[in-house]
Parts: sequence; structure tokens; C-alpha cells
Amino acid sequence: MNRTPVTLYMGPIRGGTDHIYRNAFARHFEGFDLAVAPFINCINLNKITRKYVHGLLPENNTGMPVIPQILSKSAEGFAHLANYLTDLGYDTVNWNLGCPFPQVANKHRGSGLLPFPDKIREFLDAVIPALNGRLTIKTRLGREHRDEIFELMPVFNDYPIGELIIHPRTGRQMYEGTPDLSAFESCLALSRHPVVYNGDIRTINDFRRLSERFPEVGRWMIGRWALVDPFLPGVIKTGKNECGNADKIGKIKAFHDDLFKEYSRALYGPSHITDRMKGLMVYFLSAFQDTHNALKKIKKTRTPEQYLAAVNHFFDTEARWGC
Ligand SMILES: Cc1cc2nc3c(=O)[nH]c(=O)nc-3n(C[C@H](O)[C@H](O)[C@H](O)COP(=O)(O)O)c2cc1C
Repeated sequence: MNRTPVTLYMGPIRGGTDHIYRNAFARHFEGFDLAVAPFINCINLNKITRKYVHGLLPENNTGMPVIPQILSKSAEGFAHLANYLTDLGYDTVNWNLGCPFPQVANKHRGSGLLPFPDKIREFLDAVIPALNGRLTIKTRLGREHRDEIFELMPVFNDYPIGELIIHPRTGRQMYEGTPDLSAFESCLALSRHPVVYNGDIRTINDFRRLSERFPEVGRWMIGRWALVDPFLPGVIKTGKNECGNADKIGKIKAFHDDLFKEYSRALYGPSHITDRMKGLMVYFLSAFQDTHNALKKIKKTRTPEQYLAAVNHFFDTEARWGC
């Protein structure tokens, strides 16, 4: 039985949980206490503008508290951008040490830095005194091996880090295999910072199993699986799953329509709107049964009108909740 109060974080999904999605989510669903935003890259100091951080401007993030995330291996660039964000009103900025994609990791960024504890120490030595706000870190177990994290825990412990978000896979694993819970358990014992668990919380039962195994953990992050089942955070928070399946379909449809309206306002050009919505529908449809044909039809649409007709047809006649 987990007696520690539960704080739920919306995980950063680039191309998924942008500010429009986060705000709409908060209008339709409950459960998340805050979100870590998808990463932004460091750029030259003189190029940092309000337009560059448009998705992080406080006025565009009224739905829930947000922690911005930066992907960088340059201490100077990181500190400049982090302090710019602090000036906007953010007291905390997160460092992405977990991105597994080769185009990032091969350049020693994201999970690509994890095999190099000395470089991480050098980065923190320079960044921590230069920051006007608080730093948190989101990491994996390593790039190649899960044991890389055990070289890193003493490094993290040497610095005033607000919290450590751990996704217990290696970068090489991408999203394959299962999270390594025994490695996570060891990290928990070693960390002097609060630890956030992240990875494969797909259902209330997953959450119950994890929170029974780690009763001392109070902070939990859900990424992909809240895009699939947006009711999940609320069910975890309340312990109740009272919404009937027909209600669920109606609520998802209302959420979808709100997102469609907001992206139609924010994005320029019909293909941007349909591409964005098709990306989200891949997640949404995973919560329903037998969606292969519906997804094929939706993906084939070219215009927003065709897209909406295909999606409405799905919700009105085919949708069967499967979570
Ligand atoms: C398409 C995609 C984009 C992601 N973008 C980010 C990101 O910008 N920053 C980050 O720290 N993690 C990112 N992640 C990782 C997730 O935040 C999370 O750590 C991972 O999906 C595991 O958690 P989950 O099983 O709850 O999804 C991304 C994952 C996916 C699949």
C-alpha cells in the first residue's frame, strides 16, 4: 500500500505534449499535477527570443504547472537558456540526459552523455553556480549498459539537484524490453535527491504494482500511456474508474475536437493540421479495439475536411473502448 502522497507528472513527448495539448488536457481530464515540457535545444544567446520559446511562454501555459526541459551538452548555452526561462518565471529547469535517438546520442547529448561521468561533472560544475533557478535531471540507466548509472549516482549526489527522474532503460534499448526495476531500486537507495519513477505505467494495475514495490516513491511520470488513455492519471489519483465506456468515447471525442480547433488556429496550412492530428490519433486509437482499418483510412486523408469525416465516422460508428 502506497502511503506517500502521489504527485503525477505528464511526461515530455516531443510532437505529443506541446502547450496546446497540455492546456487542452487540463480542460478535459484530471490527475496530472504538473508537466515536464518536451526539450528545446540550446541556441546562440543572441538568438533566444520569445518566438523561440513560444510554447513555454507562461501565457501559453495556463492549464497546469510546467517545467521546461533543455537538451544540451554546452554548459554555457544551457545556463543562458535556463536563465532566460527563469526570467520568464520558471523556478525550475530540467536537463535532458535521456534522449536515446542516435542523431542526438551520437553527438554526446541526451543519453549519449551517460557513459561520460567526468563530462557530466564538468557540465554541472559550470552550470550549477551559473543558474538563477533550480535544476532537475531526467535520465536513463545508461547509453549502452544499465551499470553506467552507478558511476553517475555519486556525481548527481555531489550537486544540489532538485530531483532525478529515472526511466530505467538504456538509451540503446530505446523503448524495447521492460524497465529494469531492480536497477531502479538500487538508484533509489543510492540517491540523496528525490526520485521520480518513469516508464511503462500503462494501467492502474501497473501503477499499483509499482507503488507497492516502491512505497517510498511519491513522484510518478507517465509519458506515452496518458496520450493513449487520458483517463489514467485521474484513475490513479482517485482510485476510481467510474466513467462508462460510452462516456469515455464521448469525452475523448470532445478532447479530440478541442485539439483540432486549437491546432487549426495555431498551425499554418492544412497539411500541418492534419499531420499533427494524425500523430495524436495513433496514440488515441491504441486505446480502442480493432482500429487497424480506421487508422489506415485516417492516415490516407489529405485535407482537414477528409480527416474530420474519417475521425467522426470512427467515433460515431466503430469506436469500442479497449483499455
Ligand atoms: C515520441 C517520443 C518523444 C519523446 N520526447 C521526449 C522529450 O522531449 N524529452 C524527454 O525527456 N523524454 C522524451 N520522451 C521519453 C518520455 O518522456 C518517457 O521517458 C518515455 O516514453 C517512457 O515513459 P512512458 O513509458 O510513460 O512513455 C519521448 C518519448 C517518445 C516516445
